[in-house]
Amino acid sequence: MSKKHAGGQQKEANVAVVIMAAGKGTRLKSRKPKVLHEVGGRTLLSHVIAAASGVVDAKQIFTIVGHEAERVQNAVAEFGTRFVEQPEQRGTGHAIQTALKSITDYENVLVLSGDVPLIRTETIEQLWRFHQKEDAAMTILTAAPENPNGYGRVVRRRAGSAEVESIVEDEALTSAQRSIKEINSGIYAFKTSALEQYLGGLKANNARGELYLTDMAGVLRAAGERVVAVQAEDAAEVLGANTLAELAALDARMRATTANRLMAAGVTIFRPDTCVIDAGVEVEADAIIEPFVQLLGRTKIGAETRVRSFSVIENCTVGERVIIRQSCVLADSSVGDGADIGPFARLRPGSEIGEDVHIGNFVEVKKSKLHAGVKAGHLAYLGDSEIGAGTNIGAGVITCNYDGVHKHATRIGKGVFVGSDSTLVAPIAIDDGAYIGAGSCITKDVPAGALAVGRGRQVTKEGWAEARRARRKAQEQG
Ligand code: UD1
Ligand code: MG
Repeated sequence: MSKKHAGGQQKEANVAVVIMAAGKGTRLKSRKPKVLHEVGGRTLLSHVIAAASGVVDAKQIFTIVGHEAERVQNAVAEFGTRFVEQPEQRGTGHAIQTALKSITDYENVLVLSGDVPLIRTETIEQLWRFHQKEDAAMTILTAAPENPNGYGRVVRRRAGSAEVESIVEDEALTSAQRSIKEINSGIYAFKTSALEQYLGGLKANNARGELYLTDMAGVLRAAGERVVAVQAEDAAEVLGANTLAELAALDARMRATTANRLMAAGVTIFRPDTCVIDAGVEVEADAIIEPFVQLLGRTKIGAETRVRSFSVIENCTVGERVIIRQSCVLADSSVGDGADIGPFARLRPGSEIGEDVHIGNFVEVKKSKLHAGVKAGHLAYLGDSEIGAGTNIGAGVITCNYDGVHKHATRIGKGVFVGSDSTLVAPIAIDDGAYIGAGSCITKDVPAGALAVGRGRQVTKEGWAEARRARRKAQEQG
């Protein structure tokens, strides 16, 4: 029986999981292998592995790779699963034949499809429990979606019976079988011994000339073995992604699920259908997400923070009571409580924005630490810098961090006033409480409390403009 795992739950020991992910995905018409296409901001395959990891340890998961095997392996290396190579893809039945020698130590095997990404751990466990209870040779996870077209259909022995006669692929359905609404999800449980005994008998006498794993239902049944099916409650969970349109539908569904999870936890999302929120994003209660916001990767948003429209936030940690105004772009950075960012601000990777900092329009920050209360309200570039608490950065200030070869650091102390349109040529340090006159080009360090001005002196010539106009006029007339 399935026992609880991770935090009280224990994973299954006597069952392997095999994930079929070797196919090219011809119907996607894409260069990228199908299982590396994404829904909800993660690859199809990583969703499937994550769901399987809830049932068994990673070392019991065998991913079958073939088309662009190395690329696929690298993309999911973090999970620590094992891999089986199927160099030539001759069908789902052939895929399992290839994997069979790796799993002989396990009494049972759960077979998952790499292109059925919404599957949940709970549903795999439901299949596994049913398979054991029924003591079946093969158990098929089925569903009854609104539109069964394109899927294999499950022919039950009798209406209402758990037992299955066969699976018939869409292309081979008789007109009577077309009315069957129950589809094969491409997810199964097998007794390993049944695979060992009968898998070799599959034949490729079908439309695609492949060995179909689905034929195992009829083969086992004919041999008098027990073949049963259990239906998933939510058909959406087992929908496959064979075309880009199907992928887009799954992506929308997964994002809707994420938005619903956040709303149920107290987050306000106006027009959630317009927002793109990745599955791994966390948002605390009382945050407000306006229309057309993108929250991507491992982004975390704190309580009572408001993210205004058209902002794109990727892999950032944003504190509480922050306002991110319209059209900000934030990546791989952190923002402290109470900060006020944008509109039209950009935080590039490695930026640490302290509490109550204000970053205004057209300010770009890269790999910089801004301590509490810093203000940079307009049109600045702050790169490779550290700026002390309470410092004011005037409009148009630029840290000149790059000399054409190397990047250099700018250090500005606490309570500094950097006048507008100043350029700070790094490496440079400006100490606490200093003043920089507007329009300065600062190339030498400035000590604490000093005033530095680095610009041409203003020259004012009284009456000069009037005299010039008079000269012009005289020339024109003469
Ligand atoms: C399969 C089932 C169909 C079911 C549907 C559910 C078969 C013959 N049909 O059809 O009954 O309704 O899934 O989504 O199995 N793969 C390999 N090696 C191969 C061939 C495929 O690893 O040689 C992998 C693919 O990468 C994919 C998975 O197996 O992840 C399923 O293959 P796919 O071609 O998508 O099968 P479907 O036509 O969707
Ligand atoms: Mg498929």
